[in-house]
Amino acid sequence: MTRAFHLVPHVSGWVLLAVLVLVAGGWVGTAAAAPPAIDGRIMEGEYASHYQARRIGMEVHWTIEGDSIYFGLKVPATGWLAIGWDPSGPIMEGEDIILGYIRGKELFLQDYFANSSVTHASDVSLGGRDDVLESSGSEDPQSTTIEFRRRLDTGDRFDRPITPGPHTVQLAYAPSDDFVTYHGEKRTVVKIDFFAGGAQEAGLFARPRSFDGGRGPFVPWLLTVAVGVVTIAGLTAAYLLWPARGRRRHTD
Ligand code: HEM
Repeated sequence: MTRAFHLVPHVSGWVLLAVLVLVAGGWVGTAAAAPPAIDGRIMEGEYASHYQARRIGMEVHWTIEGDSIYFGLKVPATGWLAIGWDPSGPIMEGEDIILGYIRGKELFLQDYFANSSVTHASDVSLGGRDDVLESSGSEDPQSTTIEFRRRLDTGDRFDRPITPGPHTVQLAYAPSDDFVTYHGEKRTVVKIDFFAGGAQEAGLFARPRSFDGGRGPFVPWLLTVAVGVVTIAGLTAAYLLWPARGRRRHTD
């Protein structure tokens, strides 16, 4: 009886000490979440951040862990899907692209570089490296999911490093299992700060932004079109009238 009385405070003292040590060491409450599993399935809460491009229905999930970024991409189609970031020229030119599709049960995924405003070539074909470190995907009749990991900064000259601050990110997909079919309207541009987790629609570069919701540039765009139409009509009228006079003089 006496021994038990002494034992209880003795044990709880050690437990208290252990808890204090763990708190001081930063263990309690900061247990690091496991990095996403690259298994072709995106589970609720698996990634630290996500963005959904509502107009085209594409989801982007990402987690930064150590020197790597994990991406989970999902589209409501069965064909290729892609994410690209940091173009340096018009439309897509100069951006880093990861593009993939699933055929049968096999995932085809490659590291690309946009070598012109509307074309891309694999980093390997350009003399660089394929920097996808792990990847997996799945497909059902309505959707395609692809997950992969790469280093934030690969050091390859055909890759763009992922750094803190906003990046111009391009998302696209198409219903064909290949690396070349044009995406049509299934593409969008968004600003993402991968470190801070924020994302914002950026609007398309290649067409009047007012078609994507803004109102400002519509009037200048309309004026440009109107001036173009008047100029073309004027030149056509001049062309049709001048030869007629010329022919009259010739027959006189
Ligand atoms: C597969 C071959 C591809 C072809 C033939 C192609 C072709 C084109 C063309 C002609 C345009 C300009 C017209 C338009 O806005 O639709 C364009 C724009 C665009 N492409 Fe592609 N593209 C391809 C792949 C990709 C990929 C892999 C991505 C994503 C990383 C992508 C993202 C975009 C985006 C976001 C735009 C609009 C850019 C803007 O207006 O600011 N494209 N593409």
